[in-house]
Amino acid sequence: MTSTKHRSQRYQLSEARQAEVERLLAAMTRREKIGQMTQVEYGSITPDQVAEWAIGSVLSGGGGNHGDGSASAWRDGVSAFVAGSHRSRLGVPILYGTDAVHGHSNVLGATIFPHNIGLGATRDPDLVRAIGRASALETAATGARWSFAPCLAVPQDPRWGRTYEGFSEDPRVVTALGRAAIEGWQGDQLERAGVLACAKHYVGEGAMVWGSAGSHRHPWIDWWDGWGAEWQIDQGDIAIDEYTLRSRHLPPFIAAIDAGVATVMACYASWQGQRIHAHRYLLSDVLKDELGFAGFVVSDWMGLEQVDADYTTAVERVINAGVDMVMVPFDFRRFIATVDDLVDQGRLTQLRIDDATRRILTTKARLGLLDPRNDVEAATSVDVVGCAEHRALARRAAAASAVVLTNNGVLPLVSETAVLAAGQALDDVGISCGGWTIEWAGGQGPITEGRTILDGLRAVLGANAVTYSRGATEQTERRAVGIVAVHELPYVEGGGDRADLRLPEDQVALVRHVRRHVDRLVVLVVSGRPLVLDAIAGDADAIVACWLPGSQADGIVDALFGAVADPGQLPIRWKHESTTWSVGHNVPVATHTAEVC
Ligand code: GLC
Repeated sequence: MTSTKHRSQRYQLSEARQAEVERLLAAMTRREKIGQMTQVEYGSITPDQVAEWAIGSVLSGGGGNHGDGSASAWRDGVSAFVAGSHRSRLGVPILYGTDAVHGHSNVLGATIFPHNIGLGATRDPDLVRAIGRASALETAATGARWSFAPCLAVPQDPRWGRTYEGFSEDPRVVTALGRAAIEGWQGDQLERAGVLACAKHYVGEGAMVWGSAGSHRHPWIDWWDGWGAEWQIDQGDIAIDEYTLRSRHLPPFIAAIDAGVATVMACYASWQGQRIHAHRYLLSDVLKDELGFAGFVVSDWMGLEQVDADYTTAVERVINAGVDMVMVPFDFRRFIATVDDLVDQGRLTQLRIDDATRRILTTKARLGLLDPRNDVEAATSVDVVGCAEHRALARRAAAASAVVLTNNGVLPLVSETAVLAAGQALDDVGISCGGWTIEWAGGQGPITEGRTILDGLRAVLGANAVTYSRGATEQTERRAVGIVAVHELPYVEGGGDRADLRLPEDQVALVRHVRRHVDRLVVLVVSGRPLVLDAIAGDADAIVACWLPGSQADGIVDALFGAVADPGQLPIRWKHESTTWSVGHNVPVATHTAEVC
């Protein structure tokens, strides 16, 4: 572990930039400093109000899209907010933040990479770094210079709806890939088309206890179309001792700080019953003082309101604990006035306000935002969004993420094969992308530009050799090989908390139906986590975990035809009623050299 002094030097500014930060800090009124500590959701503020209130950041939450959702509409929308901040009294630009968690995934036509659980299966830091860099270029092209990624959760319970946002249950994998993602996002020179990364959600996430969310979850969840029913473990209580917290969940954040991660997002969950958003020991004593984190801490969406029923007390506790910027996201006036009052009452000190503001300004200086000559927007073009090079990278990642769980010799497939293909997920970009895609919870069908697994099969075998139907019920002729995809429908956060991970009856029936019409059967699992496959394991000659492969799901076909040199390995144990495949499990498949489709 490097020394604290060494780590904090990664955040060191040049003398000139440090002087600029101090000049601004000295010139700012208290209200302007509090404005910098305020992050507002884009639909709850106008560019003129950004100027008037000297707001520090505007964000798009999941599905927070501009105009028609295209990259150019995003660029126009974001630019309007940035221009608004230039009109503020001191002209300090905003940071525009978004959940570009697997590519610039809110934006129509952007390249959608596999979710982290699939990248964890690749064990490939160079690939993850390249994905971070490609995602940064697509994000910066729309004017957004802050991504709320990577998630450094270490998921321990696959019933958790955010399992797919974690790289692995093995902290060593999370540490290596999380660091690589940050290096990709921030690049060698943060100010040159770099995008601020955000190590989230600090700390201990993935170790919550099933059933503990009920007393902790957001008050707003219950009015989210009755979503509250699912929320069972997300945002719940992390009931582990400090040794386990430090040995399993802290290393990815230490590596992130070593890599100079610009921001850290606090975790909604509680540790031993105390909400982490108000946990001074974790947010200040450990993260800032012990580990030398010199960026800034941002709260999560309405994480503030979960801390205390009394709003003023919640604000006092969260900022005193060490949160520097608060994701308000709606009522910025109330937040700013409350902080101002708390300083007047001596419940928040001017020192703390100055410390938070200095961290935020220093981070903006690192990004080059305080240097008027540095205009990254002029240097980027929306043409990079969804470009062929990035799509090829996404396809390579999908191929490398596939984990062959069982194989009775049917893989690798050979190109002269007549195939009966079935299952909605085989031909559904939305299911392949999962949550956090275009909309917060994702969606089904052609939600954005992409290629499906079926597209890949047809490209290799020829359209006539592949008989596809979603349900396969009308199938009568026999085929040499059947390929059936089983799946989870897209979900997000606690909305994906599920106690029962067995396949639905209709999918079991489909597998058994196809089994009766083919000589050999391959089952593909398109899911954000391990599912219980006992009902169909006996029917399959091969089972392949595809995870959530993204917009270039045709990469999965490269793996089926043995075109992947280093096939994926389980990033998380896969439990059945009768057995468990452990982390690292995979079944080698004979490889061909060239890409097959
Ligand atoms: C969400 C998530 C967080 C995300 C934030 C902004 O609730 O917990 O990961 O970055 O809000 O969308």
